[in-house]
Amino acid sequence: MGKLDGRVVVVTGAARGQGEQEARLFVEEGASVLVADVLDEQGRTLAKELGARARYVHLDVGREDDWAAAVEVAKEAYGKVDGLVNNAGILRFNALVDTPLDEFMRIVRVNQVGVFLGIKALAPEIEAAGGGTVVNTASYTGLTGMAYVGAYAASKHAIVGLTRVAALELAAKGIRVNAVCPGAIDTAMSNPALLAPATTEAEAGGEAEAGAGAGADAEAASAAVARFYRKLVPMGRIGRAEEVARLALFLSCDDSSYITGQPFVIDGGWLAGVRAM
Ligand SMILES: NC(=O)c1ccc[n+]([C@@H]2O[C@H](COP(=O)([O-])OP(=O)(O)OC[C@H]3O[C@@H](n4cnc5c(N)ncnc54)[C@H](O)[C@@H]3O)[C@@H](O)[C@H]2O)c1
Repeated sequence: MGKLDGRVVVVTGAARGQGEQEARLFVEEGASVLVADVLDEQGRTLAKELGARARYVHLDVGREDDWAAAVEVAKEAYGKVDGLVNNAGILRFNALVDTPLDEFMRIVRVNQVGVFLGIKALAPEIEAAGGGTVVNTASYTGLTGMAYVGAYAASKHAIVGLTRVAALELAAKGIRVNAVCPGAIDTAMSNPALLAPATTEAEAGGEAEAGAGAGADAEAASAAVARFYRKLVPMGRIGRAEEVARLALFLSCDDSSYITGQPFVIDGGWLAGVRAM
């Protein structure tokens, strides 16, 4: 028995990173998963590997027509949709006063508008399926500030707000809505050395969180990331995408049946406070 037997879940940004691990775990737990992303080749390869209970769809989360098409693909393939993981996201580093409006708006469009459109498109489907769950991917920076990621932090704070409002509006329709707030997680966003050579930043809209440059020796960059987080995070390490996937699973299955409207921090203790010694 899987924790998601018979469920049909759309996971955005599922071609790699946390979304990929969520898609893998959800299929393992019995769900059918719509692997949604803008990285078509990677997404298709993953869906093929996962088998009959996975299907890839090109979904730019900032486009309302893409959402409508994805809903149709899911219903045609699996008959219904009763789960959503809004995971797609992008990051840029910049001081607020140096951030071009266009860059700010690009981040808001994917991170914030993407979550809004996802809820808007899927909530009626989830209700029609008899209820279900939405998990939004916010961030540590959805609950506190971090210098040089102003647009990102603003969009992630907005996701926490949207999560609370959606939970209030959708509870009576049998839909629970929660958010995961990861700290530093070892994916291409925090460690671009993990990117396959063929995957360009332009394709995914991703960018380094820890500042490792493109073309840097992958092993050295990974070691630098590990050293950085060993000092910064109380638990002494960066998080793993699989760990966030397990939290998303908890929030998507009956183990969390009485929980809605909450942000869940998963950060190795980073947000707990500061150490004086
Ligand atoms: N890695 C971290 O340290 C960290 C920390 C906190 C929060 N997060 C959040 O976790 C989520 C997943 O990020 P990740 O760490 O796996 O990084 P990632 O860059 O590996 O994955 C992001 C995915 O989103 C996809 N994507 C980008 N723009 C899209 C669009 N317009 N439509 C659909 N898909 C799009 C990318 O193609 C990619 O597959 C993001 O929302 C990110 O902001 C990450």
